[in-house]
Amino acid sequence: MNNDYFFDVKKKRPEELFESVLDYFKDETLFNYATSKSIMRTQRKITLRTLELLELKNNQHLILDAGCGPGFVAMYLDELGYKTIALDLILNFLKFYEIQDLNPVLADMCYPPFQPDVFDAIISISALQWIYIHLNLKKKREDLINLFKMFYTILKPKGKAVFQFYPKDKMVMDNIGDLISKNTKFNGNFVIDNPNSPKKRKIYLLLKKE
Ligand SMILES: C[S@@+](CC[C@H](N)C(=O)[O-])C[C@H]1O[C@@H](n2cnc3c(N)ncnc32)[C@H](O)[C@@H]1O
Repeated sequence: MNNDYFFDVKKKRPEELFESVLDYFKDETLFNYATSKSIMRTQRKITLRTLELLELKNNQHLILDAGCGPGFVAMYLDELGYKTIALDLILNFLKFYEIQDLNPVLADMCYPPFQPDVFDAIISISALQWIYIHLNLKKKREDLINLFKMFYTILKPKGKAVFQFYPKDKMVMDNIGDLISKNTKFNGNFVIDNPNSPKKRKIYLLLKKE
């Protein structure tokens, strides 16, 4: 992996400007996100890439969409024939479209309310950056550690989790990697598409349970 790629730090991302995701995704912002055709198209492309990384042999798998928002990813997984559970913290996202078939669950993904060994895979797109941003705060750090521990627990043996997210810089990625190796038995790595183009770059974290 080329570690010399640079991060475009000029423009602050919403998670840097808002204390909580609940403060950001409301009213017009929530409506604009949920009705954006271009975001929907992008999230579908990212979903296909995450499926490629997961290397599932067929669509007979149960997938958790963690931080599903209005459900672009979960709806697409459903279209592709996967059994899907969609989880988010924001009720107005879960209610935005008719996604009852996707078993919407209102919960914090750091404390997912599921039994052990349930999911074949977990996909989380564009959500993780909301959780690690205040890693220096004890509570946020504990939340993040619990997220990785719980994802390990609720995945079936040999199950995999893939996160696409927007880390602020390389240090955040190193911190996350460190925290996972110290607190879980996950094997994992980062996959970076278009590493040298800040606009096109997509960063994935792929984790495999033993
Ligand atoms: C940018 S949206 C992405 C939504 C969806 N994954 C997509 O690709 O369209 C980020 C989502 O992450 C969710 N999120 C952030 N932190 C969360 C947490 N701790 N638990 C559950 N959902 C969370 C937010 O509520 C929001 O819906």
